[in-house]
Amino acid sequence: MRVLVTGGNGQLGTEVVREFNRLGHEVLAPLPEELDFLDPDTLAAKATTLQVDWVVNCAAYTHVDRAESEPEQAFTINRDSAGSLASVAAETGGRLLHVSTDFVFDGKQSRPYREDDEPAPLSVYGHSKWEGDKAVLAALPAAIILRTAWVYGVYGQNFVKTMLRLAGEGKPLRVVDDQIGTPTWTADIVQAMVALVEADASGLFHYTSAGETSWCGFARAILAEAIQLGFEIKTRSVEAIPTSEYPLPATRPHYSVLDTRKIQPYLASPIPPWRDSLIKMLKELQACADCW
Ligand SMILES: NC(=O)c1ccc[n+]([C@@H]2O[C@H](COP(=O)([O-])OP(=O)(O)OC[C@H]3O[C@@H](n4cnc5c(N)ncnc54)[C@H](OP(=O)(O)O)[C@@H]3O)[C@@H](O)[C@H]2O)c1
Repeated sequence: MRVLVTGGNGQLGTEVVREFNRLGHEVLAPLPEELDFLDPDTLAAKATTLQVDWVVNCAAYTHVDRAESEPEQAFTINRDSAGSLASVAAETGGRLLHVSTDFVFDGKQSRPYREDDEPAPLSVYGHSKWEGDKAVLAALPAAIILRTAWVYGVYGQNFVKTMLRLAGEGKPLRVVDDQIGTPTWTADIVQAMVALVEADASGLFHYTSAGETSWCGFARAILAEAIQLGFEIKTRSVEAIPTSEYPLPATRPHYSVLDTRKIQPYLASPIPPWRDSLIKMLKELQACADCW
């Protein structure tokens, strides 16, 4: 299969490129300057010439706080260009898997969000992603939209690496304890993507690891597991604070756990608990000198 992976140098995209290559597919992963999501028309013209069977769209404007002051860029990349890619797929008979986020929800529910729950984003980033979901499905109703959350992996920058770096330097850690979600490892997400592509699925799906925690609970688990594995960790405790003590430009949902029951039948095995995947990622990071 000929597969275009956009955002192929991002934290999730890097993992997608590696896995689709490993599976023997022909993978095209143009750099952002070669396929620029800030220019949806040129992007569509170029994408049309590539003649791929599948597009896996991991490109996104992901600066959640900066988006509050750069809404045009966020909407161009996350809505307009995502929609353009879907239109190209519709015109050329291609398929598309588009990645979305738990931040489309407002976090006011007290049970996990299902695919048919109505989004109500709180931030510019969340709005731009929700508009992207709609643009993709309008242009290509058979597209797959995979919403995930709290993503981390060995590539790129993320919360796990930040906690390890700060704790390694002995910095005090104060982390919010009143936002609840599910940390999710890129390697697990990619297995879910492959399963959906191989099943030729379509529609909205939620995928995260199993279970839930707060950012503070996640930080404490990172430190505990890293110490267990022999990482150099000087900071031994994490202070729990409320969101009000860590003000940021973008409002985050207080509760954004996703219900993953719809995707489970497509997967070869039960979705792993988030802490099990964290341990696997830490082991992989430990063995990877180039991943820092
Ligand atoms: N990170 C999370 O916690 C999280 C949670 C839920 C959902 N998601 C979703 O998961 C997907 C992947 O996110 P990620 O964590 O892998 O983010 P990431 O590391 O920031 O990757 C985003 C990718 O988009 C590319 N990109 C940005 N602007 C571009 C442009 N103008 N033209 C072309 N490419 C451009 C980036 O390239 P450069 O790096 O070269 O700019 C990068 O390759 C996104 O759809 C995101 O919304 C992420």
